[in-house]
Amino acid sequence: MKVAVFGQTGQVATELQRRVPPNVQIEALGRDRVDFARPDDLGTAVRELHCDVIINSVAYTAVDKAEQEEELASVVNGASVKALARACADIGKPLVHISTDYVFDGSGDAPWRPDDDTNPLGGYGRSKLLGETGIAEAEANAAVLRTSWVFSAHGSNFVKTMLRLGAERDRLTIVADQVGGPTSAASIADACLTLARNLFEGRPPGTYHFAGAPDVSWADFAREIFTQSGLATEVVDIPSSDYPTPAKRPFNSRLDCTSIYEEHGISRPDWRADLKDVLQELI
Ligand SMILES: NC(=O)c1ccc[n+]([C@@H]2O[C@H](COP(=O)([O-])OP(=O)(O)OC[C@H]3O[C@@H](n4cnc5c(N)ncnc54)[C@H](OP(=O)(O)O)[C@@H]3O)[C@@H](O)[C@H]2O)c1
Repeated sequence: MKVAVFGQTGQVATELQRRVPPNVQIEALGRDRVDFARPDDLGTAVRELHCDVIINSVAYTAVDKAEQEEELASVVNGASVKALARACADIGKPLVHISTDYVFDGSGDAPWRPDDDTNPLGGYGRSKLLGETGIAEAEANAAVLRTSWVFSAHGSNFVKTMLRLGAERDRLTIVADQVGGPTSAASIADACLTLARNLFEGRPPGTYHFAGAPDVSWADFAREIFTQSGLATEVVDIPSSDYPTPAKRPFNSRLDCTSIYEEHGISRPDWRADLKDVLQELI
């Protein structure tokens, strides 16, 4: 199976290139090959690919900056994804696309199911939802994988921030009223490759949730990072109201991952084990 990956440098793109299963060839295309700020270029780019399946890991992911740059975020995460999905539908190639818990408003405390009503709180979530809608409108043979709280040894993420701050300070105040499933980029890459294989073999498309288990608060995530990395930094719980950010974050990011297990055999990974691997690589 030949897989074309849009994205080369991101957390998930990097893991996709490192975790190529036997009998799979991966070609990763960076921004120099295709710029998602130019939706008109997507059609030609897709038609020139020699592959069986396409995975899209490209995204405008700067959540706070998106409050100022929603137009650009909407082009990269919305218009270009729609153009990509249309081109995939035209040439009959399956598409695996990654989306986010930020399409939900975070109300309540029940895990979100894939068919629950969306209601993004900010520009980033709205732009990602535009991508999902574009895929549905294009009627592409696509699996949309919504995930949350991505971490890895590359790029910028919560784990790397905590290691930096933990090395500088004895005590940190961390938000404790937002709850979700930290998810390693490595486990997302594996899930995308399984979905790619299954779509290639004729399984039906759909929207799925995939997140690490167990669900925790950011504060508890930080505590586990410090415990595993041997840092004595004390974590003090604070409410989100004590840590204002330009973009509102959902309080409840729990994702119900039942359907991806039932339909594709993909189970929630224990993020604490994945964290161990990432820390080993970093420290
Ligand atoms: N990070 C999270 O916590 C999180 C949570 C939920 C869902 N997700 C979703 O998971 C997916 C993967 O996220 P990630 O953490 O791997 O993202 P990331 O590390 O921020 O990487 C984003 C990738 O998109 C590329 N990109 C951005 N703008 C582009 C453009 N105009 N043209 C071409 N490429 C462009 C970047 O390339 P450059 O290096 O050239 O900029 C980079 O390779 C995304 O769909 C994201 O929305 C992420």
